[in-house]
Amino acid sequence: MFNRSNRFRSRAKGVGLDDVALAEVRDLLGARARRRDLLIEFLYLIQDNYGCLTAAHLRALAEEMRLSQTEVYEVASFYDHFDIVKEGEAKPAPLTIRVCDSISCMLAGAEDLIGELSASVDPQAIRVVRAPCMGRCATAPAARIGDREVDHASSQTLIELARSGDTNVFVPDYVGLEAYLAAGGYQLLRKVKAGEIAIDAIIDTMQNAGLRGLGGAGFPAGKKWGFVRSYPGLRLMSINGDEGEPGTFKDRIYLEKDPHRTFEGALIAAHAVEAERIYFYMRDEYPAVLAILRAALETAGIVKPGFIELRRGAGAYICGEESAMLESIEGKRGLPRHRPPYIAEVGLFGRPTLNHNVETLWWIRDIVEKGPEWFSAQGKPGHPGIRSWSVSGRVKNTGVKLASAGVIMRELIEDYCGGMSEGHEFKAYLPGGASGGILPASMGDIPLDFGGELAKQGAFVGSHAIVVFSQADSAASAPAAKCKLTTSSAWPSAATTRFPFSTCTIRWGCRPA
Ligand SMILES: Cc1cc2nc3c(=O)[nH]c(=O)nc-3n(C[C@H](O)[C@H](O)[C@H](O)COP(=O)(O)O)c2cc1C
Ligand code: FES
Repeated sequence: MFNRSNRFRSRAKGVGLDDVALAEVRDLLGARARRRDLLIEFLYLIQDNYGCLTAAHLRALAEEMRLSQTEVYEVASFYDHFDIVKEGEAKPAPLTIRVCDSISCMLAGAEDLIGELSASVDPQAIRVVRAPCMGRCATAPAARIGDREVDHASSQTLIELARSGDTNVFVPDYVGLEAYLAAGGYQLLRKVKAGEIAIDAIIDTMQNAGLRGLGGAGFPAGKKWGFVRSYPGLRLMSINGDEGEPGTFKDRIYLEKDPHRTFEGALIAAHAVEAERIYFYMRDEYPAVLAILRAALETAGIVKPGFIELRRGAGAYICGEESAMLESIEGKRGLPRHRPPYIAEVGLFGRPTLNHNVETLWWIRDIVEKGPEWFSAQGKPGHPGIRSWSVSGRVKNTGVKLASAGVIMRELIEDYCGGMSEGHEFKAYLPGGASGGILPASMGDIPLDFGGELAKQGAFVGSHAIVVFSQADSAASAPAAKCKLTTSSAWPSAATTRFPFSTCTIRWGCRPA
């Protein structure tokens, strides 16, 4: 008898399909549903197992998922962390050392480190690659060997780690579930779910506190919850843990210390907008955080299994932009969507979606328990709230500094960072990572907050990533990277407007045109 499915299969079988590769891919995927949105997760399964993505495996994956080969290739090649090996090409060396070559690490000698490493390792055994900001700017230069993150990296330390084979993820101590529960954790969630605290009251609390989105855009949190709730239909929520803005590391610090606080905030927000499920998008540059989140999700028992789904980014800065992140969660290339419609109305899988940054969610428990005034009163007059400033560069004490919204740069340096590093004079600063513009020390008295005087100067706080420069630094001596669009090798000035973020090729942060 004529077998329709066999006929279809032989037609659909891609060019040069390799039966061994197909069997290997099937074996790896096991009983997992061949869902389109899991494409990136499946690419990771293959890459983690075989050390790269061969053309044969990509073809086999396309076949297994009933996708075109082009589609699978386009997704895999979009993300920096996938190593595609074409026919006839050699596989990458078994061990990779990534050295951050973003701004704070460059100030701390990353270029020399890359040179030293490249000159001393056997390229057949160890691959040395440049990488964008790893969120360890306070302990620059930062590197990663295998899955091991390394602070104050030197070629000696990295080579020693390679020799000893100590290249697995190192997970720092953090507040686990038991300790979190013992300190009253998840009580607030219980009360909210039991209706002891009304949803409208929580939304009002967020608005009265002046909590703004801390991922960069600063949109008022309570207002966003109200918008999402106003759209009919099943809703979803996403957590943005991409933290790609060079100079930013606050989300990593919070998740490495107290992950359940962010979960509790997320579950309260999800309850407020009646979200059916939460997707937690975490950047691949944070292996320790990924390990913590996996463990925390498994042990939590706070929600039904699968209510929070963890998704691993794959090294694409643009996926921090929320609509690009949703595309990535859907298993596609992280290309930003046109707006409107905004994701609050048409978001993940076409559903109304509430998206929040890790830190925004981190504050929710404290704000509800301690009251909105507790939060708002910590800001400077006219700038409600407290902020987590990721400070790196030429100051004595780098790190996350909890200081008022509206703080000025000179105050941050003197009162929170112990002054400038020995022998360095304050010359210039980035108020909001590489995207937020660069300001001279003469503008060190501008209140740092969303909008206001800073915006008039064409700069912004964004994710509150401060990089401090001294007389030892010069834009002219910065690496001569060229923007592929403008072919310029000059840093953008505070007043520069060139191309939208989504098209910026070297993360200089040209602001939307
Ligand atoms: C190019 C670009 C990169 C961004 N990167 C991040 C990021 O890494 N993390 C983040 O939370 N938000 C990032 N954002 C902001 C998000 O689009 C979004 O506003 C934010 O996740 C919303 O959460 P919030 O309201 O809690 O801040 C980025 C925006 C742009 C335009
Ligand atoms: S870790 Fe290197 S600049 Fe952030």
